[in-house]
Amino acid sequence: MRRKVLSLLLCGAMIISLSACGDNSSTGENAGKGTQDGVQETSQEAGGKDSKDLPILGAGIYSASDNFNSYIGKSIVNASDGIFKTNIEDGQNDQSTQTNQVDTMIAKGAKVIALSVCDTTAAPALIEKVKAAGNLPIIFFNKEITDEGVIDSYENAYQVTSTGGDYGAAIEGQMVADAWKANPDMDKNGDGKLQLVNLMGDPGHTASQPRADYVKSTIEDAGIEIDLLAEDTGMWVTATAKDKMDAWISKYGDEIECIVAANDAMALGALTSIEAAGYNMKGTESEKYIPIIGIDALPEMLDKIESGEVMGSVLQDAKTQGQVIVKMAENLINGKDACDGMDFKLDEAKAVRVPYQAITKENLDVAKSTYAK
Ligand code: GAL
Ligand code: CA
Repeated sequence: MRRKVLSLLLCGAMIISLSACGDNSSTGENAGKGTQDGVQETSQEAGGKDSKDLPILGAGIYSASDNFNSYIGKSIVNASDGIFKTNIEDGQNDQSTQTNQVDTMIAKGAKVIALSVCDTTAAPALIEKVKAAGNLPIIFFNKEITDEGVIDSYENAYQVTSTGGDYGAAIEGQMVADAWKANPDMDKNGDGKLQLVNLMGDPGHTASQPRADYVKSTIEDAGIEIDLLAEDTGMWVTATAKDKMDAWISKYGDEIECIVAANDAMALGALTSIEAAGYNMKGTESEKYIPIIGIDALPEMLDKIESGEVMGSVLQDAKTQGQVIVKMAENLINGKDACDGMDFKLDEAKAVRVPYQAITKENLDVAKSTYAK
């Protein structure tokens, strides 16, 4: 079926400004490479030849095989240039490994710690460690610690993440609803309902269930009835999502009218799967086409949006999150307010939340600039 280019409205577009970070706003020359590269690059030290004199920012991501987290790591390294000596540790999705890494950071004299934790329930123990090490500030990022009592228990604990509540999924759902309304062809079987499959994130992650709920409720609130053909977790991971999609495409094939994924890594896994089944290779001009949408707007996803193989994504701004982490770390070791000099404010969870933004073919530049130098 020949399809028109989907035209989508932008929702909640916001300009993000981090006025105080000026010179730190560059990302690494390697930003945009794949996950494997990210593992190596994020273990590079920042700070140039004089970095031995800089304070140490002990930083770690829960897993270097998580594309989005690797981009935050790159941003932290880049923003640290001239401010901190840092090194992004890979927690390998194992809390005991990451906890050992924190011990090492402290032993090496880190002045501040920034982590996306492997397991959010480890936060109290990590807080005890930094307290015992001389009340070091600790900044939790990406994986939100939702038990406010934990963050409140320690005056030097803060968070940097994205907008909570729907975690970007209301924008994702609205993009699907807008596409449906703009393209009557999307209702392939003409039954007035949207035959949907939904790839969820890791169920242990704060954003997973809200993203799955809000993407559907936003579509329904727009007056569209959903016929949910399949929904399961792809664990945020491309290969896992591909396996799920392999099963769904062989079971439902052309019955599927839309694929929503809770992140781009999974959306790309779904794309690989359906392309192997003969869909989407020629973008919206493909004989067989299923709209796919994700969250994060990773550089590797932007190429697929540009080619039309994927309908869109929701930018989660890894670069700004990394810059906020570094600026906050600098403020805290200098005895300033966490948000001093920034346009962001802490919410009641002591979190800075960087907003999401809809990304389609029409505004790819917005997402590209997030990862540009
Ligand atoms: C989400 C992000 C996912 C994954 C997850 C891991 O915010 O959208 O791609 O990185 O965090 O914690
Ligand atoms: Ca239908």
